[in-house]
Amino acid sequence: MPTPRRDILVTSALPYANGQIHLGHLLEYIQTDIWVRFQKSRGHNCTYVCASDAHGTAIMLKAQNEGITPEALIEQVKAEHERDFAAFGVNFDHFHSTHSEENRVLSELIYERCRDNGAIKRTTIQQLFDTEKGLFLADRYVKGECPKCGALDQYGDNCESCSATYEAYELKNPISTLSGSAPVLKDSEHLFFDLPQFQDFLKDWTTSGRLQPQVANKLAEWLDSGLMPWDISRDAPYFGFEIPDAPGKYFYVWLDAPIGYLASFKAHCDNTGMDFEHYWKKDSQAEVYHFIGKDIVNFHCLFWPSMLSCADFRTPSAVNVHGFVTVNGAKMSKSRGTFIQASTYLAHLNPEYLRYYYASKLNSRVEDTDLNLEDFVQKVNSDMVGKVVNIASRSAGFISKRFDGQLSETDANPELSAQFAAASDSIAALYEAREFSAALREIMALADDANAWIAEVQPWVVAKQEGQEQQLQALCSTALNLFRTLVIYLQPVVPALAASASDFLKVPEFKWDDAQTRLTSHTIGQFKPLMQRVEMDSVNAMIEAGKQVTAPATAETAQDSTPECTIDDFVKIDMRVARIDQCEQVEGAKKLLKLTLDDGSGKPRTVFSGIRGIYEPDQLVGRLCIVLANLKPRKMKFGLSEGMVLAAGEDQDVFLLDVDSQAEPGMRVS
Ligand code: MSP
Ligand code: ZN
Repeated sequence: MPTPRRDILVTSALPYANGQIHLGHLLEYIQTDIWVRFQKSRGHNCTYVCASDAHGTAIMLKAQNEGITPEALIEQVKAEHERDFAAFGVNFDHFHSTHSEENRVLSELIYERCRDNGAIKRTTIQQLFDTEKGLFLADRYVKGECPKCGALDQYGDNCESCSATYEAYELKNPISTLSGSAPVLKDSEHLFFDLPQFQDFLKDWTTSGRLQPQVANKLAEWLDSGLMPWDISRDAPYFGFEIPDAPGKYFYVWLDAPIGYLASFKAHCDNTGMDFEHYWKKDSQAEVYHFIGKDIVNFHCLFWPSMLSCADFRTPSAVNVHGFVTVNGAKMSKSRGTFIQASTYLAHLNPEYLRYYYASKLNSRVEDTDLNLEDFVQKVNSDMVGKVVNIASRSAGFISKRFDGQLSETDANPELSAQFAAASDSIAALYEAREFSAALREIMALADDANAWIAEVQPWVVAKQEGQEQQLQALCSTALNLFRTLVIYLQPVVPALAASASDFLKVPEFKWDDAQTRLTSHTIGQFKPLMQRVEMDSVNAMIEAGKQVTAPATAETAQDSTPECTIDDFVKIDMRVARIDQCEQVEGAKKLLKLTLDDGSGKPRTVFSGIRGIYEPDQLVGRLCIVLANLKPRKMKFGLSEGMVLAAGEDQDVFLLDVDSQAEPGMRVS
């Protein structure tokens, strides 16, 4: 029985409009797009919207650095994002921007309803203020010494050395990373969404079957440990929407970002005549799904449903959370060339390889997905090229050359054809449940059966036998029909390949239910190669190219904003060559090593250094390094640190700077 037609609205998280799309993001957009394409091919009324997440301090500062307006920046990045998504076949029905009139109107509406329902509180808080830049500083823009262990150069929210968490103003000797100046503490009134009021609502909502068990469990922990009011305002200057009844205050970017889902859909409704209310009114029968990464669960599963329900909108039917992409088993890294941007990938490889590979790894759980590059090459070649495309390439030639492109009526293997058609329901159920990996396994098992049968009946042998014309036509026609059914099942994953296949078979775009029929007495076109093999050389070339590009920005990271220094500033710095005589781990500090240095003075110098991530202590003994010798010694929990060892780093990867072996301890660096 056909399922009734469902009204489904689907979203992916809104990408920040200040960085490039990379292969990590693409996991989410590809996962969502596959699910949407599947629903559409089943005949459901499924709409997929997204938008640029355009507000916030990071975007404002980046635009300043580039000497353009934030509006110009977000326009430019939006165009780049749309280009990348289109290239990967991510087919939004509408792609909007949070910096839009629809979003302003909806953000004000939701805010005002929340306020009128008593969910907005005002409180004066103290925050670090950069007097040079005239800005209150988000945690990411403050660095200083950890108030617990004294480690240098820690951000305003937690210490990478001892893992302590604290408020930015608790840092010792804080500096603003934006100007290099020492910030001052300043009062400011902020608006808060009173999340604790929604404790009971959230306990129900998060356990009502809308969330994956892993997500629901994590939220239960947060709910049990108590909720805090959520700060939804930021002081000017800020790139965002001014709060209607709080002049000079702006909605925090995360307040209007999820409302961007509504705004994008609203714009789409205005374009197409679809009914916005039908989807978003309380108790709507339409379905709404958000696909997001595990890093933004709190925003989507605590604040968002509370705001929606408080403002008298429906809440999402489900929030589907995925894990993170790793490459060759490790976090994506710029120095390893694995921080691969969409555009870098596209210059070297076919986007459908990645769609297939991600789908072959994805399931409904919140697991990280490893893009193992050798496995990637192997799997795409063996499954897509070797098993699927191969069926068509082996049969199509005979049909074209010997039968004028005409398929026969006869089914040479009705049993296998019936098995292919009957697989429809179980494969559909797996797609529906986001068990893409299992769906593809089932499809590839069918492909194996088809290939085994073809190997058994050997059309290429029959082709050489006289008087076997009909048999040859029947075999090849059957093989092409089996191929067609596989492509129908694969279409959500590899839509471009499916489009070339329907082109060459001379049929309209496939629908899911086409798997129940066969093409008979039908004329097909010339076969053209549907997918080339992936070459490891192209993958390696992509990795090399990946090393040349820069890591993406996040909402809170500043770009190259180190203030200028003069030569006079520089000569104040006494850097010297030193030899590492001893090196030991520091108990209770994951990232710290205790170094004993020979700096040529004859007196051993002790330095605590956060380079534990990469090196084992033994590796460093005997090595030359550069030490900042006139840094004011500081008392740390573990002892006195007399200077700093220079290193270059990104994330977990911190590398000691090398010194030519002819240099000697005590030599001055200039
Ligand atoms: N702007 C916010 C989302 C606002 S939604 C109202 C944001 N943007 S993002 O550009 O940083 O991320 C967009 C999506 O990509 C998020 O769901 C995020 O989890 C996902 N990913 C970003 N990097 C990723 C990986 N390395 N791996 C998998 N997904 C990742 O967050
Ligand atoms: Zn610390």
